[in-house]
Amino acid sequence: MMLSRALVLGILALTTMLSPCGGEDDIKADHVGAYGLDFYQSYGPNGQYTFEFDGDEKFYVDLGKKETVWRIPEFGQLTSFDPQGGLQEIATAKNNLEILSKRSNYTPATNEVPEVTVFPKSPVMLGQPNTLICFVDNIFPPVVNITWLRNSKSVIDGIDETSFLSNSDHSFQKMAYLTFIPSDNDVYDCKVEHWGLEEPVLKHWEPEVPAPMSELTETVVCALGLSVGIVGIVVGTIFIIQGLRSGGTSRHPGPL
Ligand SMILES: *[C@@H]1O[C@H](CO)[C@@H](O)[C@H](O)[C@H]1NC(C)=O
Repeated sequence: MMLSRALVLGILALTTMLSPCGGEDDIKADHVGAYGLDFYQSYGPNGQYTFEFDGDEKFYVDLGKKETVWRIPEFGQLTSFDPQGGLQEIATAKNNLEILSKRSNYTPATNEVPEVTVFPKSPVMLGQPNTLICFVDNIFPPVVNITWLRNSKSVIDGIDETSFLSNSDHSFQKMAYLTFIPSDNDVYDCKVEHWGLEEPVLKHWEPEVPAPMSELTETVVCALGLSVGIVGIVVGTIFIIQGLRSGGTSRHPGPL
């Protein structure tokens, strides 16, 4: 906790580019590209440089490996981004943070309470490989541990997570993934540790398998369906015949 108290954080969303659509006197932003969304914090110390478009991450720069990491690998085949640009922005942010920290008399950042949701990527079928998604929103400051538990034991295989994705209020989102095979015997928890939480949050998830219909229920449903169908045919036929008859009579010319 000492470290979190000492944490001073500067968020510098540098530039927001608006690309207007429509006529000149009708300037409305349909798309927002935020380039150079970056932050640097004294905890770690670490930072992140991200390029977003319409609220989705296009890439971030891995500061350790000095590499551009595309959110969708195919993007990287169409275009490129020199990671040096990101490293320079982070160096600037680091400088600014020092100035801002001093100016704020080293006031620590306020911790928000993160929100955690767990859901599967595809409809769950026992035995069919799937992915669990743990969506953590309202993260501030961007320091969080998201881990997975299977039957209360920590899982290390088949996991992945996104970088911090920005919200418009300067809080962040992050998604953690776990590939798994749904089974009757396994239950899962997404565990989130954050300074805004007094203790780690465990968000539970287990497959909801609908109880199989008994044979009797199946027979009853089938019989009911069949009888309703037959009644429908009979009533329909009667109506058609009646319709034809009354139609037939009205076609006779009336007495003059
Ligand atoms: C994340 O986990 C590490 C290692 O267990 C721990 O030192 C750190 O305090 C945790 N961070 C948070 C925000 O709880």
